[in-house]
Amino acid sequence: MASVETIADRYLRLHPKSAELASEARDLFPDGVTHDARRMQPFPIFITHALGAQKWDVDGNEYVDYRTGHGALLLGHSHPDIVKAVQEQMGKGTHYGFSHELEVRWAQWVKHLMPSVEKVRFHNSGTEATMMAMRLARAYTGKPKILKFEEHFHGWHDYAAVGSGRGTGGIPEGTRSTMMVIPHNDAPLLERTLAENDDVAAVIIEPTGAHMGMYPTHPEFLGDLREITRRYGVLLIIDEVVTGFRTSPGGAHVRYDVQPDLTTMAKILGGGLPGGAVGGRADIMDMIQTKGDPAWDNENRVSHPGTFNGNPLSAAAGCKALELVATTPVNDTADLMAQRLRDGINELFQQMEIPGCAHGVASLVHYQVGVACDCDRVICNRSMDETRQGNRPQIIEPIRRALINAGVDTMSTNLILSAAHTEKNIDDTLAGLEEALAACRREQVL
Ligand SMILES: Cc1ncc(COP(=O)(O)O)c(C=O)c1O
Repeated sequence: MASVETIADRYLRLHPKSAELASEARDLFPDGVTHDARRMQPFPIFITHALGAQKWDVDGNEYVDYRTGHGALLLGHSHPDIVKAVQEQMGKGTHYGFSHELEVRWAQWVKHLMPSVEKVRFHNSGTEATMMAMRLARAYTGKPKILKFEEHFHGWHDYAAVGSGRGTGGIPEGTRSTMMVIPHNDAPLLERTLAENDDVAAVIIEPTGAHMGMYPTHPEFLGDLREITRRYGVLLIIDEVVTGFRTSPGGAHVRYDVQPDLTTMAKILGGGLPGGAVGGRADIMDMIQTKGDPAWDNENRVSHPGTFNGNPLSAAAGCKALELVATTPVNDTADLMAQRLRDGINELFQQMEIPGCAHGVASLVHYQVGVACDCDRVICNRSMDETRQGNRPQIIEPIRRALINAGVDTMSTNLILSAAHTEKNIDDTLAGLEEALAACRREQVL
């Protein structure tokens, strides 16, 4: 009987040109990549182009894409309206070094979709947005500390990286000491912590849970969080970098009816181009406002420069993306496809007797394997430790490689959908997953 090709051999056979580029990249970039989440063993694949929900690599392989621009592409790759808006803007200039109409329209779309936002400032990434939100909270309250939750990801600046569970080298002790990190979903602990520490300026949270919702927060906890922070005079920053304009047109705080003091945004906000923003209560945002009083302007206010803030190209893409979110059912379409995918994965796990589940809110899908689960398939109730026990790299990495062999690209165990995903894409993905899981079984990974 002919021997069956292993996952590793197939990966090498399908991706010779990616292998060559990866060897060049290894000499240029640490780990051979330009973003930690793009690391892949034995090497990452190199993409040439993308359209809708699909992308193609340098070896001509086609993929259904579930990275969707790290969550930025709710409309899919190269949506024709976005392409047109950006092409038109390109010919009119990419940086005026001055104010322009599109930044006003962009902010109006944000306010329209997120009524809690009274004023806003634009940046170029989610990292900048959370850095600015923390600084505003500290300046407004005059208190030094920010409380965050274990594993919740808010970008890579020094404050955000504390408690992220990875890569915290180089953060000065002084910075670490201004961050408090506690587990999420524990309202009594949160209450005790704020009662015992009167120097906390703000609490920041990923509203659907750590790592885009892989470790879910319970919606009741969001309500408790709002109530407790209000009682202790602590600001609430809801980090909607992933969830904003995705988990509802207004994001998670609109979906769950929780009023933040500040909201951080990026990804979908920029319509596929770099963009970020902080928005929220005018009295807090006005910490940026000058008053013509040197004492205030130089000592108290928060300065906010940034060469590409509100740049016309991102504003053109962002305005069009938010217009489509506000006026067409893109969220519903992506949510429906995500539901089809979650259901399909759960059925497959059951059929193949693989312990685990797929869960997720709106158009976010997360899967976990290795440990049985009886959750409602939306908000998984397993603890972080239980999820980690199943989703060990020895299991997850071969599944990801086998999925790539089968034409499906995921972001670790997160799958981020777009309105461009079709029923056929989902059905192809499920067939690919079945093939990948069978290959993992053969190799005794599962
Ligand atoms: C919740 C959250 N906040 C902040 C960030 C940082 O955003 P960026 O990668 O644009 O700096 C991310 C990135 O994935 C994120 O998921």
